[in-house]
Amino acid sequence: MRILSGIQPSGVLHIGNYFGMMRPAIVLQAEGEALYFIADYHALTSLRAPAALRENSRRVALDFLACGLDPARAALFRQSDVPQVTELAWILSTVTPKGLLERAHSYKDKVARGLAASAGLFSYPVLMAADILIYDSDVVPVGRDQKQHVEVTRDLAIKMNETFGEILKLPEPRIHAQTATVPGLDGQKMSKSYGNTIDIFAEENEMRKRVMSIVTDSTPVEAPKNPDASPICQLFSLVASPEETAALRAAFAKGGSGYGDFKKQLFVRLWEFFAPMRQRRNEILAQPDYIDAVLAQGAARANAIADGVMARVRTAVGLR
Ligand code: ADP
Ligand code: TRP
Repeated sequence: MRILSGIQPSGVLHIGNYFGMMRPAIVLQAEGEALYFIADYHALTSLRAPAALRENSRRVALDFLACGLDPARAALFRQSDVPQVTELAWILSTVTPKGLLERAHSYKDKVARGLAASAGLFSYPVLMAADILIYDSDVVPVGRDQKQHVEVTRDLAIKMNETFGEILKLPEPRIHAQTATVPGLDGQKMSKSYGNTIDIFAEENEMRKRVMSIVTDSTPVEAPKNPDASPICQLFSLVASPEETAALRAAFAKGGSGYGDFKKQLFVRLWEFFAPMRQRRNEILAQPDYIDAVLAQGAARANAIADGVMARVRTAVGLR
Protein backbone atom coordinates (compact mmCIF):
# COMPACT_ATOMS: atom_id res chain seq x y z
CA MET A 1 0.00 0.00 0.00
CA ARG A 2 1.33 3.42 -0.90
CA ILE A 3 0.21 6.33 1.28
CA LEU A 4 0.52 9.93 0.15
CA SER A 5 -0.37 13.30 1.55
CA GLY A 6 0.69 16.92 1.30
CA ILE A 7 0.42 20.08 3.31
CA GLN A 8 0.80 23.66 2.12
CA PRO A 9 3.55 25.76 3.68
CA SER A 10 1.27 28.76 3.70
CA GLY A 11 1.55 29.41 7.46
CA VAL A 12 2.27 27.92 10.85
CA LEU A 13 0.85 24.46 11.62
CA HIS A 14 -2.05 24.25 14.05
CA ILE A 15 -3.68 21.44 15.99
CA GLY A 16 -6.35 21.05 13.27
CA ASN A 17 -3.56 20.19 10.83
CA TYR A 18 -2.05 17.86 13.42
CA PHE A 19 -5.16 15.84 14.28
CA GLY A 20 -6.76 16.05 10.83
CA MET A 21 -3.79 15.18 8.67
CA MET A 22 -0.39 14.87 10.33
CA ARG A 23 -1.18 12.33 13.02
CA PRO A 24 -3.13 10.02 10.67
CA ALA A 25 -0.24 10.30 8.19
CA ILE A 26 2.30 9.48 10.92
CA VAL A 27 0.26 6.47 12.09
CA LEU A 28 0.01 5.19 8.51
CA GLN A 29 3.77 5.33 7.91
CA ALA A 30 4.00 2.00 9.75
CA GLU A 31 1.47 0.36 7.43
CA GLY A 32 2.93 0.86 4.00
CA GLU A 33 5.18 2.97 1.85
CA ALA A 34 4.53 6.58 2.83
CA LEU A 35 5.28 9.73 0.83
CA TYR A 36 4.57 13.12 2.41
CA PHE A 37 5.32 16.41 0.79
CA ILE A 38 5.32 20.14 1.35
CA ALA A 39 2.99 21.61 -1.26
CA ASP A 40 5.00 24.69 -2.18
CA TYR A 41 3.63 24.99 -5.74
CA HIS A 42 0.16 25.06 -4.22
CA ALA A 43 1.19 27.66 -1.66
CA LEU A 44 2.04 30.04 -4.52
CA THR A 45 -1.71 30.44 -5.03
CA SER A 46 -1.85 32.39 -1.76
CA LEU A 47 1.70 33.37 -0.83
CA ARG A 48 3.76 35.76 -2.92
CA ALA A 49 6.74 36.24 -0.64
CA PRO A 50 9.79 34.18 -1.63
CA ALA A 51 11.59 34.37 1.73
CA ALA A 52 8.44 33.41 3.64
CA LEU A 53 7.72 30.51 1.27
CA ARG A 54 11.24 29.14 1.71
CA GLU A 55 11.16 29.58 5.47
CA ASN A 56 7.67 28.11 5.91
CA SER A 57 8.64 25.10 3.82
CA ARG A 58 11.57 24.30 6.09
CA ARG A 59 9.43 24.92 9.12
CA VAL A 60 6.74 22.50 7.96
CA ALA A 61 9.46 19.89 7.44
CA LEU A 62 10.82 20.57 10.94
CA ASP A 63 7.40 20.43 12.57
CA PHE A 64 6.35 17.28 10.74
CA LEU A 65 9.57 15.54 11.81
CA ALA A 66 9.12 16.80 15.38
CA CYS A 67 5.59 15.37 15.43
CA GLY A 68 6.87 11.90 14.59
CA LEU A 69 7.38 11.59 10.86
CA ASP A 70 10.11 8.98 10.61
CA PRO A 71 12.31 9.52 7.55
CA ALA A 72 13.42 5.90 7.73
CA ARG A 73 9.83 4.90 6.96
CA ALA A 74 8.33 7.86 5.11
CA ALA A 75 9.82 9.99 2.35
CA LEU A 76 9.46 13.70 3.12
CA PHE A 77 10.07 16.09 0.23
CA ARG A 78 9.18 19.39 -1.38
CA GLN A 79 6.56 19.22 -4.10
CA SER A 80 8.77 21.44 -6.29
CA ASP A 81 11.63 18.93 -6.09
CA VAL A 82 9.49 16.76 -8.37
CA PRO A 83 8.70 19.26 -11.14
CA GLN A 84 7.32 16.49 -13.39
CA VAL A 85 4.14 16.87 -11.36
CA THR A 86 3.37 20.10 -13.22
CA GLU A 87 3.66 18.23 -16.52
CA LEU A 88 1.16 15.64 -15.34
CA ALA A 89 -1.10 18.46 -14.14
CA TRP A 90 -1.05 19.90 -17.67
CA ILE A 91 -1.91 16.56 -19.24
CA LEU A 92 -4.73 16.03 -16.71
CA SER A 93 -6.03 19.54 -17.37
CA THR A 94 -6.67 18.61 -20.99
CA VAL A 95 -9.26 16.03 -19.89
CA THR A 96 -10.68 18.10 -17.00
CA PRO A 97 -14.20 19.43 -17.60
CA LYS A 98 -14.26 23.09 -16.60
CA GLY A 99 -17.58 22.50 -14.81
CA LEU A 100 -15.91 20.04 -12.44
CA LEU A 101 -13.59 22.78 -11.21
CA GLU A 102 -16.44 25.30 -11.08
CA ARG A 103 -18.17 23.05 -8.55
CA ALA A 104 -15.15 22.92 -6.20
CA HIS A 105 -16.02 24.35 -2.77
CA SER A 106 -12.46 25.24 -1.93
CA TYR A 107 -12.06 27.63 -4.89
CA LYS A 108 -15.30 29.42 -4.06
CA ASP A 109 -14.41 29.67 -0.36
CA LYS A 110 -10.94 31.01 -1.06
CA VAL A 111 -12.17 33.64 -3.51
CA ALA A 112 -14.90 34.64 -1.04
CA ARG A 113 -12.13 35.16 1.56
CA GLY A 114 -10.26 37.49 -0.77
CA LEU A 115 -7.67 35.30 -2.52
CA ALA A 116 -6.94 36.35 -6.11
CA ALA A 117 -9.13 34.33 -8.51
CA SER A 118 -6.11 33.21 -10.59
CA ALA A 119 -6.07 30.37 -13.11
CA GLY A 120 -3.71 28.62 -10.69
CA LEU A 121 -6.21 28.81 -7.84
CA PHE A 122 -8.97 27.61 -10.16
CA SER A 123 -6.96 24.60 -11.32
CA TYR A 124 -5.58 23.84 -7.83
CA PRO A 125 -7.45 20.49 -7.77
CA VAL A 126 -5.79 19.42 -11.04
CA LEU A 127 -2.32 19.90 -9.58
CA MET A 128 -3.46 18.07 -6.46
CA ALA A 129 -4.72 15.20 -8.62
CA ALA A 130 -1.31 15.09 -10.31
CA ASP A 131 0.36 15.00 -6.86
CA ILE A 132 -1.63 11.93 -5.97
CA LEU A 133 -1.62 10.11 -9.30
CA ILE A 134 2.07 10.57 -10.09
CA TYR A 135 2.98 8.25 -7.20
CA ASP A 136 0.38 5.52 -7.91
CA SER A 137 -1.02 6.33 -4.45
CA ASP A 138 -3.51 3.99 -2.78
CA VAL A 139 -4.49 5.98 0.31
CA VAL A 140 -4.60 9.73 0.98
CA PRO A 141 -4.96 10.76 4.65
CA VAL A 142 -6.54 14.25 4.84
CA GLY A 143 -9.08 16.28 6.81
CA ARG A 144 -12.68 16.42 5.61
CA ASP A 145 -12.18 19.68 3.70
CA GLN A 146 -9.95 17.85 1.20
CA LYS A 147 -12.41 15.04 0.45
CA GLN A 148 -13.79 16.70 -2.65
CA HIS A 149 -10.28 17.12 -4.03
CA VAL A 150 -9.63 13.40 -3.74
CA GLU A 151 -12.95 12.75 -5.49
CA VAL A 152 -11.87 15.05 -8.34
CA THR A 153 -8.62 13.08 -8.49
CA ARG A 154 -10.54 9.84 -8.92
CA ASP A 155 -12.74 11.40 -11.62
CA LEU A 156 -9.68 12.56 -13.55
CA ALA A 157 -7.96 9.17 -13.23
CA ILE A 158 -11.10 7.46 -14.56
CA LYS A 159 -11.29 9.91 -17.46
CA MET A 160 -7.62 9.32 -18.34
CA ASN A 161 -8.03 5.56 -18.12
CA GLU A 162 -11.13 5.63 -20.34
CA THR A 163 -9.32 7.76 -22.89
CA PHE A 164 -5.83 6.26 -22.92
CA GLY A 165 -6.10 2.81 -21.29
CA GLU A 166 -5.48 1.73 -17.69
CA ILE A 167 -2.58 3.98 -16.80
CA LEU A 168 -3.52 5.57 -13.48
CA LYS A 169 -4.36 4.05 -10.12
CA LEU A 170 -7.52 5.19 -8.28
CA PRO A 171 -6.76 6.50 -4.75
CA GLU A 172 -8.99 6.38 -1.66
CA PRO A 173 -9.26 9.25 0.84
CA ARG A 174 -8.70 8.26 4.49
CA ILE A 175 -10.64 10.54 6.80
CA HIS A 176 -10.91 9.91 10.54
CA ALA A 177 -14.40 10.63 11.81
CA GLN A 178 -13.33 11.95 15.23
CA THR A 179 -10.73 14.38 13.89
CA ALA A 180 -12.14 15.16 10.43
CA THR A 181 -12.93 18.73 11.45
CA VAL A 182 -11.18 20.11 14.51
CA PRO A 183 -13.00 23.23 15.76
CA GLY A 184 -11.18 26.51 16.26
CA LEU A 185 -11.47 29.04 19.10
CA ASP A 186 -14.79 30.29 17.75
CA GLY A 187 -16.27 26.83 17.13
CA GLN A 188 -15.88 27.08 13.33
CA LYS A 189 -13.39 24.79 11.56
CA MET A 190 -9.91 25.64 12.82
CA SER A 191 -8.09 27.30 9.95
CA LYS A 192 -5.19 29.69 9.61
CA SER A 193 -7.33 31.85 7.36
CA TYR A 194 -9.95 32.32 10.11
CA GLY A 195 -7.46 33.45 12.77
CA ASN A 196 -8.98 30.90 15.18
CA THR A 197 -6.05 28.53 15.57
CA ILE A 198 -4.04 27.01 18.37
CA ASP A 199 -0.58 26.49 16.89
CA ILE A 200 1.16 23.23 17.74
CA PHE A 201 4.45 24.87 18.66
CA ALA A 202 3.20 28.15 20.12
CA GLU A 203 5.12 29.50 23.12
CA GLU A 204 3.59 28.58 26.48
CA ASN A 205 2.05 31.99 27.19
CA GLU A 206 0.75 32.32 23.68
CA MET A 207 -0.88 28.89 23.79
CA ARG A 208 -2.44 29.68 27.18
CA LYS A 209 -3.75 32.97 25.85
CA ARG A 210 -5.28 31.28 22.81
CA VAL A 211 -6.99 28.61 24.92
CA MET A 212 -8.32 31.20 27.36
CA SER A 213 -9.82 33.11 24.42
CA ILE A 214 -12.09 30.22 23.34
CA VAL A 215 -15.52 31.71 22.73
CA THR A 216 -18.13 30.74 25.35
CA ASP A 217 -21.61 31.99 26.27
CA SER A 218 -22.52 33.88 29.43
CA THR A 219 -23.87 30.96 31.50
CA PRO A 220 -23.07 31.85 35.17
CA VAL A 221 -20.51 29.81 37.13
CA GLU A 222 -23.12 27.98 39.28
CA ALA A 223 -25.33 26.95 36.36
CA PRO A 224 -25.04 23.68 34.38
CA LYS A 225 -23.33 24.12 31.00
CA ASN A 226 -23.84 22.42 27.68
CA PRO A 227 -20.62 20.50 26.94
CA ASP A 228 -21.28 20.87 23.20
CA ALA A 229 -21.99 24.60 23.12
CA SER A 230 -18.27 25.48 23.05
CA PRO A 231 -15.28 23.68 21.51
CA ILE A 232 -13.69 23.06 24.94
CA CYS A 233 -14.84 19.44 25.42
CA GLN A 234 -14.20 18.46 21.81
CA LEU A 235 -10.65 19.83 21.95
CA PHE A 236 -10.10 18.21 25.36
CA SER A 237 -11.15 14.83 23.97
CA LEU A 238 -8.28 15.02 21.47
CA VAL A 239 -5.63 15.22 24.19
CA ALA A 240 -7.20 13.33 27.13
CA SER A 241 -8.49 9.81 27.73
CA PRO A 242 -12.18 8.93 27.18
CA GLU A 243 -12.62 8.68 31.00
CA GLU A 244 -11.17 12.14 31.55
CA THR A 245 -13.33 13.53 28.79
CA ALA A 246 -16.42 11.93 30.34
CA ALA A 247 -15.47 13.48 33.71
CA LEU A 248 -15.08 16.93 32.12
CA ARG A 249 -18.45 16.61 30.38
CA ALA A 250 -20.03 15.60 33.69
CA ALA A 251 -18.49 18.67 35.37
CA PHE A 252 -20.01 20.87 32.64
CA ALA A 253 -23.44 19.35 33.16
CA LYS A 254 -23.23 19.58 36.95
CA GLY A 255 -22.60 23.35 37.19
CA GLY A 256 -20.49 25.06 39.85
CA SER A 257 -17.37 25.60 37.72
CA GLY A 258 -16.70 28.45 35.29
CA TYR A 259 -15.53 28.17 31.70
CA GLY A 260 -12.18 29.64 32.84
CA ASP A 261 -11.48 26.54 34.97
CA PHE A 262 -12.28 24.22 32.09
CA LYS A 263 -10.06 26.20 29.74
CA LYS A 264 -7.18 25.96 32.23
CA GLN A 265 -7.57 22.17 32.31
CA LEU A 266 -7.60 22.08 28.53
CA PHE A 267 -4.44 24.19 28.33
CA VAL A 268 -2.57 21.92 30.77
CA ARG A 269 -3.51 18.85 28.73
CA LEU A 270 -2.62 20.41 25.42
CA TRP A 271 0.72 21.66 26.69
CA GLU A 272 1.59 18.20 28.08
CA PHE A 273 0.42 16.43 24.94
CA PHE A 274 2.85 18.31 22.71
CA ALA A 275 5.78 18.29 25.21
CA PRO A 276 7.64 15.31 23.67
CA MET A 277 7.26 16.87 20.22
CA ARG A 278 8.68 20.19 21.44
CA GLN A 279 11.64 18.30 22.81
CA ARG A 280 12.18 16.43 19.56
CA ARG A 281 11.91 19.71 17.70
CA ASN A 282 14.72 21.21 19.77
CA GLU A 283 16.87 18.15 19.09
CA ILE A 284 16.35 18.55 15.35
CA LEU A 285 17.10 22.26 15.53
CA ALA A 286 20.45 21.38 17.08
CA GLN A 287 21.42 19.48 13.89
CA PRO A 288 21.55 22.15 11.19
CA ASP A 289 21.93 19.82 8.17
CA TYR A 290 19.38 17.23 9.19
CA ILE A 291 16.33 18.73 7.49
CA ASP A 292 18.10 19.26 4.16
CA ALA A 293 19.41 15.70 4.24
CA VAL A 294 15.93 14.31 4.92
CA LEU A 295 14.38 16.40 2.12
CA ALA A 296 17.08 15.38 -0.37
CA GLN A 297 16.63 11.70 0.42
CA GLY A 298 12.84 12.06 0.16
CA ALA A 299 13.08 13.88 -3.17
CA ALA A 300 15.27 11.13 -4.63
CA ARG A 301 12.73 8.46 -3.65
CA ALA A 302 9.79 10.50 -4.96
CA ASN A 303 11.52 11.27 -8.26
CA ALA A 304 12.24 7.62 -8.90
CA ILE A 305 8.55 6.74 -8.58
CA ALA A 306 7.33 9.80 -10.50
CA ASP A 307 9.71 9.13 -13.41
CA GLY A 308 8.27 5.64 -13.80
CA VAL A 309 4.67 6.81 -13.83
CA MET A 310 5.43 9.72 -16.18
CA ALA A 311 7.13 7.43 -18.68
CA ARG A 312 3.93 5.35 -18.71
CA VAL A 313 1.71 8.43 -19.12
CA ARG A 314 3.82 10.02 -21.87
CA THR A 315 3.83 6.83 -23.87
CA ALA A 316 0.08 6.33 -23.41
CA VAL A 317 -0.88 9.84 -24.56
CA GLY A 318 1.54 9.87 -27.50
CA LEU A 319 4.21 12.25 -26.30
CA ARG A 320 6.82 9.60 -26.86
P1 ADP B 1 -5.88 25.66 6.81
O1 ADP B 1 -7.37 25.48 6.72
O2 ADP B 1 -5.45 26.09 8.15
O3 ADP B 1 -5.35 26.55 5.70
P2 ADP B 1 -4.79 23.52 5.26
O4 ADP B 1 -5.84 23.74 4.22
O5 ADP B 1 -3.38 23.92 4.95
O6 ADP B 1 -5.24 24.23 6.61
O7 ADP B 1 -4.83 22.00 5.67
C1 ADP B 1 -3.77 21.09 5.69
C2 ADP B 1 -4.27 19.72 6.11
O8 ADP B 1 -4.80 19.80 7.43
C3 ADP B 1 -5.41 19.20 5.24
O9 ADP B 1 -5.31 17.79 5.11
C4 ADP B 1 -6.63 19.56 6.01
O10 ADP B 1 -7.71 18.69 5.73
C5 ADP B 1 -6.18 19.41 7.44
N1 ADP B 1 -6.89 20.33 8.30
C6 ADP B 1 -6.82 21.69 8.31
N2 ADP B 1 -7.63 22.22 9.22
C7 ADP B 1 -8.27 21.19 9.82
C8 ADP B 1 -9.24 21.08 10.85
N3 ADP B 1 -9.71 22.16 11.47
N4 ADP B 1 -9.67 19.85 11.19
C9 ADP B 1 -9.19 18.75 10.58
N5 ADP B 1 -8.26 18.77 9.60
C10 ADP B 1 -7.81 19.96 9.22
N1 TRP C 1 -4.72 20.73 -0.83
C1 TRP C 1 -4.08 20.25 0.37
C2 TRP C 1 -4.36 21.25 1.51
O1 TRP C 1 -4.66 22.39 1.29
C3 TRP C 1 -2.59 20.09 0.20
C4 TRP C 1 -2.28 19.11 -0.86
C5 TRP C 1 -1.74 19.38 -2.08
C6 TRP C 1 -2.50 17.70 -0.81
N2 TRP C 1 -1.58 18.23 -2.79
C7 TRP C 1 -2.04 17.19 -2.05
C8 TRP C 1 -3.02 16.83 0.13
C9 TRP C 1 -2.10 15.81 -2.36
C10 TRP C 1 -3.08 15.46 -0.16
C11 TRP C 1 -2.64 14.97 -1.41
O2 TRP C 1 -4.23 20.88 2.62
